[in-house]
Amino acid sequence: MFALLLLILAAGYLTWSLVCLELNYRRARAIGIPLFRLPIDPLNILFQIFESHVWEVLDRLPVKGVLPQWTTYARRGWFFEDKADTFLRLGKVWAIVTPVGIYIQLADPEAIGDVLSRRMDFPRPTEPYKILEVFGPCISTAEAENWARHRKVLAAPFNKSIMSFVWSESLQQAQDLIEAWTKDKVHSFSKDTRTLSLNVLAAEGFNKPFNFRHWKGNEKHSDAKLSYRDALQIILDNALLLLVLRPKLLSSRFLPQSWQRVGKAAAAFQGYMRQMLDEEMQSLNQGAKGSGSLMTSLVRAGDAYSTGRSGVNDRTKGLSVDEIFGNIFVINFAGHDTTANTLAFAILLLAAHPEVQTWLTQEARYVCKDTKPETWQYNELFPRLVRCQAVMQMCKCIAAFMRRTTIRITTQTRFASSHRDGLRSVQQVLEKHWSLHERAHILHGLTDPKSVQG
Ligand code: HEM
Repeated sequence: MFALLLLILAAGYLTWSLVCLELNYRRARAIGIPLFRLPIDPLNILFQIFESHVWEVLDRLPVKGVLPQWTTYARRGWFFEDKADTFLRLGKVWAIVTPVGIYIQLADPEAIGDVLSRRMDFPRPTEPYKILEVFGPCISTAEAENWARHRKVLAAPFNKSIMSFVWSESLQQAQDLIEAWTKDKVHSFSKDTRTLSLNVLAAEGFNKPFNFRHWKGNEKHSDAKLSYRDALQIILDNALLLLVLRPKLLSSRFLPQSWQRVGKAAAAFQGYMRQMLDEEMQSLNQGAKGSGSLMTSLVRAGDAYSTGRSGVNDRTKGLSVDEIFGNIFVINFAGHDTTANTLAFAILLLAAHPEVQTWLTQEARYVCKDTKPETWQYNELFPRLVRCQAVMQMCKCIAAFMRRTTIRITTQTRFASSHRDGLRSVQQVLEKHWSLHERAHILHGLTDPKSVQG
């Protein structure tokens, strides 16, 4: 009986998904660009959990040649594999249609620039980021009308004085890393770049330096009170678990010890944030300077504490207490993996290209002369290290693939007027960047529509 019920529910869900897919496909056809139907949305939670396991099995079977074409776009990070293939085949604009939305893919710098500059016409979807609200609402989940308020406060900490702090902390951590690598062997360079990135973030967040710990294999866990840095490390290393199960559930004593540890780390991290908040509040009320940490900037950039209540959605200035906590988490979350991976990419690429190492060394010798790292000043040296900046920019692109823009128009979860507006905005971009003649070529999948003379 139970199995039958389950089967009926599954069949109902499948039918509903196919109906939505067809409805979305019809809407997408109005845009007049090449389309692919993808029967499951890439943001579907179940899909995200099982997708890699399904591929693990499929990749071992001799089915590659018989899989339908849409399966190419059903892999997480398909664009790493696809590179420009689909664009070369179909032109600079095409779309994937799912039961939930229409994902328009653009590979034209001018059109992408146009989309990115029209923030109100092409708002970033916030629902997929809701999962990040572990400690409170944050910039990534703020709707268009609240985004500017978050952005204004979050821009405050990224000033010159913090950059100088980050610079000297990074120099210290990098020296410790080099010392560890020269004294001992390199066990895992990517683990060590994670430590470097974490220590700099933690030092910036807590306003206190943390010793570099060279990774030598499985670390033993101690039951001692977690430091701010260790709590942050556990949270970021187990972010997926935390995002899905949330801190409260993870603290349950019925869960495995390792999961409870993540719950404890989340509670400790929240405790540190609250303590910093109270201290900052106190110094603000006493007219004192504050510790100079991330919390100081977030508190002082707005009127959070004089009026701060969470859940107030008519505010025009400052952040509520929950929003400050939410943003501190998201800054760490957004800054950690990205920086660690960029450093890891850079080290690998430099190892593979010794000529670029020599090119960088020439610059470093010329700019830093024979002086000691302790004397290196951010304001003086950083702007002159242009070769270093160029290499890091390139590695950043590799880590983030920022040259691609996906516009997602959600057609199922929003009101009709909103998807009509979304489709109209896309039409406007197409009309502006491609003539009618070129668009006919795009639709018929001709290579490089921009090269076609109309
Ligand atoms: C190489 C390093 C980095 C790369 C490649 C990178 C890349 C990105 C990208 C592509 C986004 C946009 C995400 C989206 O729109 O969905 C983003 C957003 C963000 N990044 Fe970074 N990032 C890096 C370092 C950092 C650092 C060090 C911090 C903070 C300390 C940080 C904080 C943020 C925040 C708070 C957002 C959200 C902004 C918003 O939602 O409007 N990032 N980053």
